Amino acid sequence: MTGGAGFIGSNFIRFIFQSGGFKGRVINIDKLTYAGNAESLADVQAAQGDRYVFERIDICDFDAVKNCLVKYDVDCIVHFAAESHVDRSIHGPAEFIQTNIVGTFNLLEVCRQVWNGRNDVLFHHVSTDEVFGSLGAEGYFYETTPYDPRSPYSASKASSDHIVNAYFHTYGMDITMSNCTNNYGPYQFPEKLIPVMLLNMLEDKPLPVYGDGMNIRDWLYVIDHCSGIWAIVCGGRLGETYNIGGENEWTNIDLVNRMCELTAEKTGKDKDHYKKLITYVKDRPGHDRRYAIKCDKIKNELGWKQSVTFDAGLSLTIDWYLNNQAWTDSIKSGEYLRWVDKNYGGRA
Ligand code: NAD
Ligand code: TYD
Repeated sequence: MTGGAGFIGSNFIRFIFQSGGFKGRVINIDKLTYAGNAESLADVQAAQGDRYVFERIDICDFDAVKNCLVKYDVDCIVHFAAESHVDRSIHGPAEFIQTNIVGTFNLLEVCRQVWNGRNDVLFHHVSTDEVFGSLGAEGYFYETTPYDPRSPYSASKASSDHIVNAYFHTYGMDITMSNCTNNYGPYQFPEKLIPVMLLNMLEDKPLPVYGDGMNIRDWLYVIDHCSGIWAIVCGGRLGETYNIGGENEWTNIDLVNRMCELTAEKTGKDKDHYKKLITYVKDRPGHDRRYAIKCDKIKNELGWKQSVTFDAGLSLTIDWYLNNQAWTDSIKSGEYLRWVDKNYGGRA
């Protein structure tokens, strides 16, 4: 697993141990950037013993990755590690080019060398629907939709997708790929829409809605993304890419209003208490208008489907953030980075 200390990776590791019937061992390779928190997996470490191993490695470091693959005789990589936030990619694209493009290329090169034509191995690449660009009011992204990325983040992910595909066609490497819509759920770093709004509500801070609030995203509960990836890893056809989506489109402003209502119910506030905090702010440059995906392929081929309704998922997510103040306090104060300093001698 790469990037297993991040939001989706940590949920995926917990998911395969608890629900996926996974019998092997997970080696979690993570550089622990600002977005990685090894403590998010403390429960897994305690429950799984040496079936869960953490290695602090940068995926761009060829020798370190190679040593790791050899040392643990790795036969499957699920590649999550990435710089993942669009706003950060606008302010500082270099890291996105480095990790998402060069890092993915580096991993593939290590695999090509170490696996050396083996066909009992798999490289699964985790990607995003943002590679397809921006939709108007109509239409959907399909697996066959031409790529049209608009942000440095989506351009770097699109590039990595093409390189992964190239290793299938050119070198016959056993790969699968998935492109997923916006995820939400426990352990999401509070820079993405849902945790930003939630944590601001809890501190009675303004809720910053970009532009006119009418941009549309398709939201999927993170565990449903994890089960989709696991279905592909276990039974996906080699060389194929699968869309995974929530089929659950919301304008940002409707979503924030819904969150305000649900959170008010849970904290015992007046129905409109949090809504009064909504503040329209300057729009993100190049802000994609709408994402919406068709995911019939994974449903028909692998029997996957979403299992968590949006209200249920939002409720679970709000409860998780309310009940895990220690995690959010540690993130907000930067305490988790001091932990990295202490345990690994210097932050990424
Ligand atoms: P995240 O930012 O929460 O976590 C990324 C993880 O990768 C962190 O633990 C970080 O420390 C690690 N990392 C970053 N650079 C690294 C490097 N050079 N070497 C090793 N580790 C490194 O991201 P996320 O939201 O969990 O996303 C995981 C993957 O899923 C990404 O590839 C992203 O593009 C994709 N994705 C995310 C979403 C979403 O809604 N969050 C949707 C679709 C696809
Ligand atoms: P985000 O969670 O950053 O995901 P992405 O840009 O990858 O879709 O943003 C989701 C949507 O919410 C996007 O349209 C931008 C918007 N947004 C806000 O309006 N305010 C915010 O504070 C954030 C972080 C995002």
